Amino acid sequence: MFIDPEAPASHKRTLYTAMVAPRPIGWISTLAPDGSANLAPFSYFNLVSSAPPIVMFVGNQPTDRLEKDTIANARVSGEFVYNLSTVPLAAQMVATATGTARGVDEFVLAGLEKATCLKVRPPRVAASPLAFECTVERIVDIEGRTADEGRSSVVFGRVVGVHVADRLIGPTGRFDTLGAQPLCRLGGAQYAAIGEIFEITSPYKPSA
Ligand SMILES: Cc1cc2nc3c(=O)[nH]c(=O)nc-3n(C[C@H](O)[C@H](O)[C@H](O)COP(=O)(O)O)c2cc1C
Repeated sequence: MFIDPEAPASHKRTLYTAMVAPRPIGWISTLAPDGSANLAPFSYFNLVSSAPPIVMFVGNQPTDRLEKDTIANARVSGEFVYNLSTVPLAAQMVATATGTARGVDEFVLAGLEKATCLKVRPPRVAASPLAFECTVERIVDIEGRTADEGRSSVVFGRVVGVHVADRLIGPTGRFDTLGAQPLCRLGGAQYAAIGEIFEITSPYKPSA
């Protein structure tokens, strides 16, 4: 079968998210100009580079406003925090994905405690075992070809601080990914936890 994304109504939008899976979920906190905190999940999220340490997430244009609060806040403040979304926090993560009015604090909405950051102003999710403090490096706006497609804003952030639960860092400095219980996003409303883990050594050796 060949699917032509450019042919009208040839496929469902959710096809791509089911095809490119599992995806990590960047649970992104930002601060609005009025000082209120904002928290929302973004599964168009990933680590782009380790040196320099760069992450990215993408906000798709909503139908009812110019852009999502997270994107608007990152644009104006130049800062955001990536919080790891975990299996035990799944219900609270989903509760923060509401298109509430600007200025509504999703930490309060989802009953999540805030913890302070050291180098950036947005708070982090205290219950999450991992958070990256980030400064906005660049925002790339990709315009849709039709009004229906809208705009996608890709936010690149430089990691300037890492908060990690002590229990997840072993004696050799390795991060215990399995122990962190990261939540993976599949297509639609499907999620996954990490299953079997196996190791294969490759000829490529990333520098320490
Ligand atoms: C697991 C999950 C992943 C999501 N990923 C994205 C995403 O990558 N990009 C996006 O624009 N919206 C995504 N959403 C929807 C946003 O979280 C939702 O629109 C949210 O209300 C945006 O909040 P804000 O307006 O406060 O930024 C996702 C929702 C869920 C539940």
